[in-house]
Amino acid sequence: MDGNGRWAKKRGLPRSAGHTYGAQTFRTITRYCSDIGIRYLTVYAFSTENWKRPAEEVSALMKLFKQYLNEALTDFKDDSIVVRFIGDTSAFSSDLQELIERTERESAERTGMVLNIAMNYGSRDELVMATKLIAEQARDGKLSVDDINADTISSHLYTAGQPDPDLIIRPSGEYRISNFLLWQAAYTEFIICDKLWPDYTTDDLDEALREFSSRNRRFGGV
Ligand code: FPP
Repeated sequence: MDGNGRWAKKRGLPRSAGHTYGAQTFRTITRYCSDIGIRYLTVYAFSTENWKRPAEEVSALMKLFKQYLNEALTDFKDDSIVVRFIGDTSAFSSDLQELIERTERESAERTGMVLNIAMNYGSRDELVMATKLIAEQARDGKLSVDDINADTISSHLYTAGQPDPDLIIRPSGEYRISNFLLWQAAYTEFIICDKLWPDYTTDDLDEALREFSSRNRRFGGV
């Protein structure tokens, strides 16, 4: 959900205002994805590197997460959305962690779209975590090294049990993956959109999906 800061700057507003508008877009796009039958949606809300931002921006984001998670609990209920978090959420304040746990618990039995909110997420961190878990199992004799394969890695990531993403859309015109789903995106289609996230609309998403459906995916074959 990139471009919130630039969106605010263009309007002479503080960066946090861009995140507030970005959060509205998050809500609109999430509901739309659920309405049109998307089964899994992952949004990148806060990376392991985002802690480097000025303290006031980080604190504005934390406030926004709390507000939106509270709202999402009731809001996404009508849409049957299952809310999951990917990332090391132990770094957040205890009240935010409680909210995260409650959101996951209360939405777990729903049957609709799975929404993954990536918070304090970094793909390298995720791969290090998975490697440690696998190494521990090998050390304890629960797993033979010869049996380690791609499925072993996938099943130790935060996204275990979910399909790899078909499409990653990056708004704001940046041509980077920024530590997002590096393992999972091996054969993912990419669409870069110039619009800044707060300006991103359901029409933009429709256009991206049209382009995606015209792509010829070969997964390394011919
Ligand atoms: C990147 O834009 C955006 C973020 C680091 C925060 C995204 C978070 C939200 C939209 C809030 C969503 C709320 C929930 C509950 C998921 P940037 O600040 O890097 O923009 P810039 O590149 O223009 O500076």
